[in-house]
Amino acid sequence: MTMGPPDQSAGAPDLSMTQGNPDLSDADLATNPVTPLKHESRSSAIAISDDDKLVAAVSPDDDTLFLIDTTKNNSTNPVKLTSGCEPRSVVYAPDVSFWVACRGNGTALKVSDLDKASPTVGTPITVGAEPTAIAVSPHGKFVLVANYADGTVNLFDNNGDGSVTLAVGPNPRALAVTNGGGSDDTKETAFVTLMFGQPIGGNVASEGNDTGRQGVVIPISLATSGAGAPINLAPIADTGFKVNNKANQPVVVGAYPNQLQAIALHNGNGYVPSTAASPAGPVNNAGNIHPFVSVFDASKMSERPFAPSGSNPNTRCGTNIAASTAGYGAGTLDLAVQVRDLNGQTQPPPVLFPTIPVDIAFVPQANIDIAYVVSEASDEVVRVAWEYANNTACLGAPNAMTINLQAMAGDVKVPIGIAVRNDATLAYVNSWAGREVEVIDFSSQTVSARVPLSPAANDPVNAGKKLFWTSTGRWSKAGWGSCGACHPDGLSDNVTFVFNTGPRQTLPLDAVYGKPNGVPDPTDQRVLNWSAIFDEVHDFENNTRGVSGGLGAIVSVNKNPIDLTATKDLNLLGSVKQLAADGATPRQTVNAGPVETVDTTVASAWDKIDAYVQTLRSSHKPSGLDGNMVAAGHTLFQNAKCAECHGGVKWTVSRRSFTPAQGAGTGSPACVMQTTMLAKKSVPTGNVAKPQNNDAFQLETEHTKQACTLATQATDCAAFPPATCNASTLLCVIAPQRLTCAVRAVGTFGAGAQGTAFEVRSDTDGNGNPLLAEGAAGFNPPSLLSLAATAPYLHNGAAPTLEDLFTDVAFKTHWEAGNPNFAPTSDDAKNLAAYLRSIDPSTSPEALDPNFDLCQGSFVANNNAVCTNP
Ligand code: HEC
Ligand code: HEC
Repeated sequence: MTMGPPDQSAGAPDLSMTQGNPDLSDADLATNPVTPLKHESRSSAIAISDDDKLVAAVSPDDDTLFLIDTTKNNSTNPVKLTSGCEPRSVVYAPDVSFWVACRGNGTALKVSDLDKASPTVGTPITVGAEPTAIAVSPHGKFVLVANYADGTVNLFDNNGDGSVTLAVGPNPRALAVTNGGGSDDTKETAFVTLMFGQPIGGNVASEGNDTGRQGVVIPISLATSGAGAPINLAPIADTGFKVNNKANQPVVVGAYPNQLQAIALHNGNGYVPSTAASPAGPVNNAGNIHPFVSVFDASKMSERPFAPSGSNPNTRCGTNIAASTAGYGAGTLDLAVQVRDLNGQTQPPPVLFPTIPVDIAFVPQANIDIAYVVSEASDEVVRVAWEYANNTACLGAPNAMTINLQAMAGDVKVPIGIAVRNDATLAYVNSWAGREVEVIDFSSQTVSARVPLSPAANDPVNAGKKLFWTSTGRWSKAGWGSCGACHPDGLSDNVTFVFNTGPRQTLPLDAVYGKPNGVPDPTDQRVLNWSAIFDEVHDFENNTRGVSGGLGAIVSVNKNPIDLTATKDLNLLGSVKQLAADGATPRQTVNAGPVETVDTTVASAWDKIDAYVQTLRSSHKPSGLDGNMVAAGHTLFQNAKCAECHGGVKWTVSRRSFTPAQGAGTGSPACVMQTTMLAKKSVPTGNVAKPQNNDAFQLETEHTKQACTLATQATDCAAFPPATCNASTLLCVIAPQRLTCAVRAVGTFGAGAQGTAFEVRSDTDGNGNPLLAEGAAGFNPPSLLSLAATAPYLHNGAAPTLEDLFTDVAFKTHWEAGNPNFAPTSDDAKNLAAYLRSIDPSTSPEALDPNFDLCQGSFVANNNAVCTNP
């Protein structure tokens, strides 16, 4: 029995659905009696058998499950799974087996006969698309799988029989099942997290707002296999952090739970770590993402909120906490608060901010509530103790503030899961890029052993993976940020950050490069960012420095950051890639520091990140799409000439047609493009020609009358002083420069629910006034890959669903952009949305009309125009 795909048009999951149980014959259980599981089952990238003898760790990169004999801890038994399995989650089942969710090929399978040299890999069971989590009920009556791309959970029995599909809401990510100790699994409840924060609703703006969304956990009754009312995990309006804006006014940092990648149940409570998002400006490492653990009462199904501590000091962490200390109550925590307090003035800090808290596991004892939280970016595990009796919670252990996974061997690990022994002595951590399992000894609070999984691939891609995910070392300030923190799975955290150019939905990175037939083509690169302001992945050096507060990798041999403005290699000028490779030419370092040469060994990090970005795969299409709707949508797509902007293998016309070159002197590509007229394109429509692009030169800043009018909704540019506006002509000049051949004006600036007021930048001017965002003259067409994982849509997240994009008249200019006579009905919108969701690497791309590729690369400089950058 299979239900259709979830209704993605509804913001909230459809909880009314209640279905029958999977077809479980209790005879199965009677003939195969099992010893029930000892504890609550939970999805993770690593699992341990109930007798503590065997650890199983997934290795997504080589379709392998590594079994480790814990009595030896020195070797592994690699069990090859199915080809394309890409195992993401593993769980121990009561019949002494491990169940694995294969994210890559949409299956689940059982590995049994664990005591044999070659364990048995069971027949794969087809589940939904992109299964990311698997968990089991105490007696194995239910195996549950969360299908990330489908918005569903599959339930079947431990023999793989009787699968039912339950719609739970968009992008379910992690699973846990209660364990009440009874004999009847139908008395238990499963909990599934939705990966992304969901809109609070009402009049609260969901985008660019620190408190606009909330975390959601859906309970599933195993008596009915039906979903219950969602448990909401609230945003924290005031985390206690403040960031100053340019007018030196302190701005309070709030954040909402997002990226709910794990869940654990313990002593009647549920614990959900998240990479909470703080999208409102100003941009600052302390004001972008926060490591949360949200806590809920699993019987009352409601949150134990972020709150001050009670009146007694906490003893479990070895620190005394004053009565009523904000953020130390026994409930939801912002771990950043506690890390900040522990670090005090110590530099470098002893505890890194536990960025990307990807997994959590409890010490399995009934009388205490102590968990270990794994930070994927900071290569550390932090111990957190909740004490409900005196209402306190704190981070650290009396003998150690943190557990550094790099301590035994100092290379980057990128841990993705943790399992704790049932005898409460050790934990095992699966380090994905480090390709090893670290053993943590609870008595010393240190890594006591490392078990290699298989020879580490030493190619640029694995090296780039480490650099992409890590927040350690030069990559952020005190562990605060990493590329992966906002680009989960290499895609998007779906947050609309208010960045330096305006409100910006995090872009997925699977379409930065074209991948014909799955093979990356390094010559087919998108122009980058919504406003087409970058032309190399290396340009994100400035993000590492600005967004994450790191030192960065473009540094001199004396470890001083190179001044990218002085070298004229910033953004579309010059080439950071070439700069990184030139160790001979002396360069200006920042803050008018000494002139020194680039450390090319360090700077080559960006070539590795670039190589890794080329390998990021797109999401598979949801399963169970209606073929007739997809076909109808395809025809509409062709009639509407969407491919004029969304054609080709990247599903976007955006293409870098030149090779950036170092510096920006006369004759450089940047200079020539600044003086080359743009080939404009219009769509003929009766008597009117609708321009797709309004700019004059290939490379220029925006100066637009429309922007000024919108900005003030009144008469002049007064709200956006001083240099950005020329009040006499009402022309706004809005930096930075954009590659205009990649930009299309489709009427989306300020359009949609967010309204015009939202088109502001992260920071204010020196007087605290908002500054107008870039984009009134258009945006860089995004790719149409991975749409099932990247709602909401548009640069500012103004379209909650794909259907909205073709029904809300605010977006009419966009849907008419290729064919002014395209007038979709609401059925058309549904069909078009179905087709868009079906686009994945297996879909044949729509041909790009070369006429509409305005980045042709034959630049003819206009001698009357003056290049502004030499
Ligand atoms: C705080 C969240 C955050 C962090 C950290 C972050 N990004 Fe992004 N990324 C974004 C957002 C938001 C955008 C869209 C920005 C825009 O268009 O102005 C983006 C866009 C991009 C793009 C452009 C993709 C395209 O197709 O246009 C690339 C490439 C990229 N990021 C790479 C990186 C790398 C590499 C790092 C680490 C050095 C990184 N990002 C760190 C949020 C983040
Ligand atoms: C003239 C160029 C152009 C045409 C034609 C065009 N688009 Fe777009 N499309 C864009 C631009 C530019 C954006 C980004 C606008 C923004 O973010 O404000 C966009 C955004 C989108 C998005 C949002 C993607 C995301 O990740 O946020 C989807 C989906 C989309 N277009 C589908 C379509 C479909 C379907 C058609 C045909 C009916 C179409 N587009 C026609 C230029 C175009």
